[in-house]
Amino acid sequence: MNAVDHEDKNREFDGFAGQYRELLKDPIREAFTKDSGFFAERKRQVFAAFFARQGMDPHRMRWLDVGCGQGELMSMAQADFAGSAGCDPSAEMLARAGNPNVRVQRTPTSIPYPDESFEFVSAVCVYHHVLPADRDALTRDIFRVLVPGGIFAMVEHNPLNPVTQIIVRRCPVDADAQLLLGRLARRLMHRQGFRNMGMDFFLFLPQGLTRRFPWVEKMLRKFPMGGQYCSFGFKPK
Ligand SMILES: C[S@@+](CC[C@H](N)C(=O)[O-])C[C@H]1O[C@@H](n2cnc3c(N)ncnc32)[C@H](O)[C@@H]1O
Repeated sequence: MNAVDHEDKNREFDGFAGQYRELLKDPIREAFTKDSGFFAERKRQVFAAFFARQGMDPHRMRWLDVGCGQGELMSMAQADFAGSAGCDPSAEMLARAGNPNVRVQRTPTSIPYPDESFEFVSAVCVYHHVLPADRDALTRDIFRVLVPGGIFAMVEHNPLNPVTQIIVRRCPVDADAQLLLGRLARRLMHRQGFRNMGMDFFLFLPQGLTRRFPWVEKMLRKFPMGGQYCSFGFKPK
């Protein structure tokens, strides 16, 4: 890929920003939930459950959401943290976040914050849009902005889930997506110095059933077939 293509790749979400919600529409997604906030809500719950299991208090943490896009998760979960910030290479996506605490990433691999600025960093449905050649460098920069002892949570679509595969294949926003198996996500984090803190699978059940039977998702969280997964790692002290 030449420099111009690389630049286009970095800004590709500028072209989607105006109709982002429309572009995500899919009959299977709609059958899963009519409420687009459900997907962000589940991520918030997965993070909260992880912190509770670890005996960590997110209210003491500064949180950075890398690839925050239009900031839906940030708006929903910022109250859980001491502070929150976001960054994304797409200025057009950020413009729609309506959040002053966001910065544009000038390159796909440089996080626009100083070293050791955050106790928690998330990247939600970002890495499948990052060129494989850039993934190590992005992860290294995430490691840089975390304090020692800080946590990185990478959330990704699970290629082992056939329904996820169908939705991704026909979603225009995912035309260039290269999904990562959970074990690749874990290796990527490990290569840049993160210690593995486990992986949770989620989005097994549609919204109605998740609300009625929340214990099912809890029970299945180690079963590697959920629609998405979250790989947790920490930066050693
Ligand atoms: C599918 S959207 C997800 C947005 C948001 N995280 C969410 O869950 O709603 C993917 C986002 O990743 C961003 N992105 C793509 N390449 C990136 C990179 N190298 N670093 C950070 N973000 C990137 C895109 O601009 C886009 O906003």
